[in-house]
Amino acid sequence: MKTVSQISELRAQVKSWHQQGLTVAFVPTMGNLHAGHISLIDEAHKHADKIVASIFVNPMQFGANEDIDSYPRTMADDQEKLTQAGTDLLFTPTADIIYPKGLAKQSFVEVPNVSDGYCGESRPGHFRGVATVVCKLFNLVQPDVACFGLKDYQQVQVIQTMVEDLSMPITIVPVATSREESGLALSSRNGYLTAEEKAIAPALQKNLQWLAEQIQQGYTANDSIDFIGLAKQASNAINEAGLKTDYLHVCHAQTLQPASEDDTRLVILAAAHCGKARLIDNLQVNLT
Ligand code: PAJ
Repeated sequence: MKTVSQISELRAQVKSWHQQGLTVAFVPTMGNLHAGHISLIDEAHKHADKIVASIFVNPMQFGANEDIDSYPRTMADDQEKLTQAGTDLLFTPTADIIYPKGLAKQSFVEVPNVSDGYCGESRPGHFRGVATVVCKLFNLVQPDVACFGLKDYQQVQVIQTMVEDLSMPITIVPVATSREESGLALSSRNGYLTAEEKAIAPALQKNLQWLAEQIQQGYTANDSIDFIGLAKQASNAINEAGLKTDYLHVCHAQTLQPASEDDTRLVILAAAHCGKARLIDNLQVNLT
């Protein structure tokens, strides 16, 4: 695997592949890679000849009080994992390369509606930062395909909407969430958890599963489903387990609007604080 941090080197390599008629898949990351990230590389291999990954801790998507300075940076380890997974090229730009004029003078991409609630509400400006950096990385890498993890469900909808709205010629491939045996979704932020917190963190996914079962049972029995009341019960149970629910909502799987009686493709979106970590998770519910 070749690692480059200059835009000219990145462009030269990808151009040469495209000239040879090879297709390119892209996996953007912020590093501190775990098996969830590597599953995106594995998926990318199914869709293209060459794999480009990036590691860039994007300042534009972190709020003023968030963890950008303490965000784990493990470059040598990450390079080893990406090499093992068969990545062809790693792009590791600095903030000066991505934002040479500084953030205050940077043009941005704003994706309305799907960016608005949930993590968009808890983290103002977050999805603007994500959409802008991903747009920029897409323009630099010029991939045919890009893989994103469904662990960040709202992020996938934001990127998919951006690609559609701005006619970007890139296929977005969503990839299922990798989890620990306990059900806890793998995340770089799990490193912030103490042993005690790690023991209670699976309550988040467990209660999403409980809620999904209640919805499915109500649908099968032809009962009217109280999405808001059930979500409240699930968030109370998460709090009782020792976490602190930030939000928990049952939504339409694509628009992310609050679920209504007629929707059959749903997603439960949730975030909860566990010690110093803010964990997010989700569960899709396809009513049959
Ligand atoms: P990061 O949190 O490093 O995640 C990079 C990619 O890995 C994202 O697509 C994310 O959804 C995926 N991922 C993380 N944990 C996963 C898991 N347990 N299972 C499957 N996929 C998982 O998301 C970002 O970085 C940034 O916002 C980025 C898109 C790179 C823009 O800066």
